[in-house]
Formats: sequence, structure tokens, C-alpha cells
Amino acid sequence: MWGGRFSDKPAELMQAINVSIGFDKRLAAQDLAGSRAHAAMLLKTGVITSEDEAAIQGGLATILAEIEGGTFPFRDEYEDIHMNVEARLRELIGPAAGRLHTARSRNDQVALDFRMWVRDACDRTAGQIKALQSALLAKAEQHADAVMPGFTHLQPAQPVTFGHHLMAYVEMFGRDASRFADARARMNESPLGAAALAGSPFPIDRHMTAEALGFARPTANSLDSVADRDFALESLAAGAICATHLSRLAEEIVIWMTPQFGFIKLSDAFTTGSSIMPQKKNPDAAELVRAKVGRLLGSFTQLTVVMKGLPLTYSKDMQEDKVPTFEAFDALELSLRAMAGMVADLEPVREKMAAAAGAGYSTATDLADWLVRELNLPFRDAHHVTGAAVKQAEALGVGLSDLPLSDLQALDGRITASIYDVLTPEASVASRRSYGGTAPDQVRAQIKRWKEALA
Ligand code: ARG
Repeated sequence: MWGGRFSDKPAELMQAINVSIGFDKRLAAQDLAGSRAHAAMLLKTGVITSEDEAAIQGGLATILAEIEGGTFPFRDEYEDIHMNVEARLRELIGPAAGRLHTARSRNDQVALDFRMWVRDACDRTAGQIKALQSALLAKAEQHADAVMPGFTHLQPAQPVTFGHHLMAYVEMFGRDASRFADARARMNESPLGAAALAGSPFPIDRHMTAEALGFARPTANSLDSVADRDFALESLAAGAICATHLSRLAEEIVIWMTPQFGFIKLSDAFTTGSSIMPQKKNPDAAELVRAKVGRLLGSFTQLTVVMKGLPLTYSKDMQEDKVPTFEAFDALELSLRAMAGMVADLEPVREKMAAAAGAGYSTATDLADWLVRELNLPFRDAHHVTGAAVKQAEALGVGLSDLPLSDLQALDGRITASIYDVLTPEASVASRRSYGGTAPDQVRAQIKRWKEALA
């Protein structure tokens, strides 16, 4: 492509470090779409003739068919996807191929292709997040009133419902989806036409190509257009946060699956056995989802380090943007799909959850609240009395709801038997009707709101 200036071939090592076709072939569809829009614009602005444009469009259509059919010859000697396509176009249509690169550079071309790839990836990811949210919603609806322990410090804290717990993740993934939507809106400007870095002397119409490629507008600074990769960084950051949420849910699945907890069962479809221990049923998929956040955060870190300190505008360092981004989205999309599968598959063991929900004096706060409500004790005093009740229950080896009334009355003579009404996990969750609380009717209201939002 630059034979005019060069008389020798590159060293083998030069080729080895320079070549990117092995990975940037994944930009083929975007590259062809960009070229087709560019050629149409060159025709409309009178830069190329209609004969040349027709030949170019025909050749690009053939190339698209070759790529889709798996017959396109990807060749290392043409370095990257842009030059592979152009070289093939020349083979197909002859010298007219050379006119396609008028008013364009690989710098704005790669910025465009990669931006469109990331945009597509954000859209796919948003769809997968939605599918996961739907799976969570369906499970939450089935178990909106199934009591389980809510934890802080992984110690039993207060009873909640399984539906409420799952809905917490629906909220998290909802924020993830909105982060991808924000990133998408910000990246949706076309860099095509920035050319090498300074813009073009040809009468190009950047608004036309921007519109043809689904962008809101062209980018406003040609230097920034070819130098910017923060659309990728922002998406990777959103991906890393989303993977963090996936990792937390995965960890809970691992914990819930242990015989010690026994809160859920996963079918054979999402577990593996052991080659030596016949009794084992391991939550490998959850463990792998838990681990994938490493790739996401690693990719974000990798690209940030590549970009930091790079002077304007394009530097070849930026070719290193693709592999981490591709890997990150591959890992994220697989994780989201695997998690949606696990959520649909898992079945809570409601008896186990309910038994655990009542353990660990989990309704102690309800007892204290009763003292505040019925006896008008200041909360701090109620907290103290309740602490003494827990101590007494512990000494007797019983739960709070089995503590004899006489023991409670020894702490405050005004306590009546109606206090037992608030000491079951069911009563505890039913009482927490504050907006966003764990009462089943509140949980169902949030499920309804989300179902409408996702519809
Ligand atoms: N393969 C290159 C990349 O991925 C394309 C842009 C090359 N531009 C250049 N001036 N060498 O970044």
C-alpha cells in the first residue's frame, strides 16, 4: 500500500509485531458498512464517478458475501482488516478500488469500525442484561413471599424474602443497562471523515455518512476523532461494574448451594461432578462467572494503560485496543447468558430458607420495635431490653419466639403475649411495608414496575 516510498520488504519480525488481521477480522462487517457509506458519499459529493462507485459497491457486496460464506482470504501480508478488504477489492474490480480511500485514512477508518463494534457490543449486552433481569423477575415473582435470612457481615440480620433478594439484583443490572445506554449515547458520533487527523480538502459530507451509519452526528474535532478511545474505556468500565454484580450473585449461588446453607438446588444442567468424589455436585458455572470479573477489570486496566500518556493523535499503540475489548465483551456476554440460565434453573429450598430465617435471633429488631410501639420505650432502651432477652434465650437454648412470657416480663412487666405476633419471620417480613421494603406486597409492586419497564 505504500510501495512508492519503500524499496525493501518489512522484516519478518516487523510483520509479526505489526499484523492485526488475526483479531481485527472481527471488524469486517463494520469495515464494509463504513466503506459502503463512504463510497456513496464520495459519489454524492462528486468526488468519484458513478461507474467507479457502482464497481466499488459491487465489489464490497461480493466481499461481504465471501466473509459471511467463510471464503474470504484473510492474509497476513495485508496487515489488517482495512488493507485486506482493499486488496481484495482491487483483485475483484481493478484500479477503481484505489478511489475508495480518497478523503479517508486508516486512522478514521479504524476509529469508525471499532466504535461501531463497541456500539454493537453494548446493544447486545443490553439485550442480555434484560434477559437476565427477566429471569430474575420470573423467579422473584414465584418466591415473593418465601422467607430467608437477610445478612449483614454474612451474619443473620433480619428476615427478608427470596423475591426481595433477587430483586436487589434486578436493580443492579438495571443500573448496568443504563450505564451501557449512557456510554452508547456518548459514543454515537461518527469519526469518519477526520481522515488521517486534520480533516479533508475534499468536499465530503460527514453528516451524510454519520446518518447512513446510524450515528447521531459527526464528531466535532478531527484530532479527537482519531485519537479517542474513551468510548471503549467507558464501555469496559460499565462492563467491569456489571461483572462485579454478576460476581456477587455468583458468590451467593455458590454459598446457597453448599450443604451447610442448602438454600437452593441447581440441576445437572448447571453443575458438574467430581472425577473422584461421587457425592459431589459443584456449581462450576457460578464459580466461573464469579471469576470473569478479572478479565473485565483486566481489560479496562489494560486499555487505560495503553492510552495513558499517548500524545495526540493516532499512535500504533492504539492497535492494542481491540484484543482486551473483544475479550471483555466475550466474557461478559457469556457470563450474562450463563447467569440467566442458572437463575432460571435454580430452585429455592423454601423449608431450609424458612428455618434459617428464624434462626440467629433474626427477629430481635422486631421485638425492640414492638417495645417502642406498644410501650413507648425510647429505641435505645428497647435495644437494651431486647439484648437481655436474646441473652436469656441463648441461655435457655431457645429462639426468641419460644422464650417464656415470664422471662420477657422479668425484663419489663408491661410486656404482653401479643409480642409473639411479631417474632416469626413471616410476621417480620410482612411488617416491613415501607417503600422498597421486604414485605411481599412491596416486592410484588416492584416486580410489576420492572415488568412494565422491561416490556
Ligand atoms: N490496524 C490499525 C489499528 O488497529 C489500523 C490503523 C493504522 N493506522 C496507521 N496509521 N498505521 O490501529
